Amino acid sequence: MKHTEIREKFINFFKEKGHVPVPSSSLLPTDPSVLFTTAGMQQFKPYYTGEADSLKDLGSKNTISIQKCIRTSDIDEVGDESHLTFFEMLGSFSFGGYGKEDAIKYAHEFLTKELGLEIDYVTIFKGNDEIPRDTESEKVWNSLGVDDVRELGREDNFWGPTGDEGPCGPTTEIFVKNFKSEIWNLVFNQYYCQKDKSLRELDVKGIDTGMGFERLSVAAQNKSNVYETDFFQPIILEIRGKNLYDFAQNSSSERIIADHLRSAIFLIADGVRPSNVEQGYILRRLLRRAIRHAKLLNQPEDLYQRVMHVLEHDIYTGIYPELKERSSEILEVIVAEKEKFAKTLDRGLREFEKLKLISGRQAFNLYTTYGFPVELIEEMAKEKGIAIDLADFEKELEAHKAKSRAGAEKKFGGHGLVLDTGELKAATEEEVKVVTRLHTATHLLHAALRKILGEEVKQAGSDI
Ligand code: ALA
Repeated sequence: MKHTEIREKFINFFKEKGHVPVPSSSLLPTDPSVLFTTAGMQQFKPYYTGEADSLKDLGSKNTISIQKCIRTSDIDEVGDESHLTFFEMLGSFSFGGYGKEDAIKYAHEFLTKELGLEIDYVTIFKGNDEIPRDTESEKVWNSLGVDDVRELGREDNFWGPTGDEGPCGPTTEIFVKNFKSEIWNLVFNQYYCQKDKSLRELDVKGIDTGMGFERLSVAAQNKSNVYETDFFQPIILEIRGKNLYDFAQNSSSERIIADHLRSAIFLIADGVRPSNVEQGYILRRLLRRAIRHAKLLNQPEDLYQRVMHVLEHDIYTGIYPELKERSSEILEVIVAEKEKFAKTLDRGLREFEKLKLISGRQAFNLYTTYGFPVELIEEMAKEKGIAIDLADFEKELEAHKAKSRAGAEKKFGGHGLVLDTGELKAATEEEVKVVTRLHTATHLLHAALRKILGEEVKQAGSDI
């Protein structure tokens, strides 16, 4: 079953059960306390809390989405059979429309009837001092003929909140035969977790379910790992091209390139640009790691272009039109980052080869002079079996930051005033006043652009 068929089945099934399909939101959430969109429910947060009314906004209390997500907590595991940094999440949601019983019945019917999968076992929340055991879910599962119901604690069967605060609640997770990990997570949003971590009951109980699409495809397409599904096979074949390296020995590099480039392409399409902070740093890390592994496999220059083409043309055609619309812009960003890194990569690798042990200062040098993200240095040290002094690296980094801050202040406050913060440059006190005004004007301009064109308008640096 192709992923396009699963998509259609999912949408049609839930539409028939009274759900309104809502398009994926951006990978960059409006909630400033989280870096990325990591789950389908994020765009629906106000409907759970009652701040907004989905019936009024979306025409129903029940919605579905296929949400683009980025999760970087397992980035170091990428290369194995199942971990990914970008994935799509199939989700069904209800904001007071229906409860546990229907949520479980829909999931059961979709998996067993529509996809023909067999449920192995399910898990439920076993309860703790604060929250009762989820006996209701157990009863529903039993009524559907699922008797292997296992109970687990807060670590495994309780979800949320995303960010500092938000809806949360007990979950029931579904495991299908011939597939090792959980396939569908059904969250019952019964509480609101407040900033101080205390729970308050929600007036309107909500449903939030999420099923990783790539993982589901492993089961539905009867494959042994995500890279064999139709989400990845075309990319892997493109990476192999006419190269004659040993595929089995280099599967980890192939997978890292495939996963990281896919994530980078979606991030760039949503407006992220490589930088040294926050989302931009994650993008830089993904790209530079992919670039290094491409080098290990002696990949030709046009690799990035070919992977981009496969994504927009073969895999997501008609699904994410932004890939096609922005393909040349996306490629430009990737190639610019590659060229920037290429200038120092070889020399940095030679420096690295000389090291028998990496001190904080040496790691700092690889980071600042040669542009190696620190996580990449760690990975290379691990491959080579040498130690790296990360605590000392952090100290070097802090000292460097403190020095730059002091430098900027001194320049700002000293005689023969020179201001150079990278963004603002001024040679005299008079000029400082001018650039300060211009700086303020830039903020006002961007505020106005955001108001008119939307929150996705982003400023990536400025030079005044
Ligand atoms: N929000 C839940 C998850 O991401 C469904 O697993």
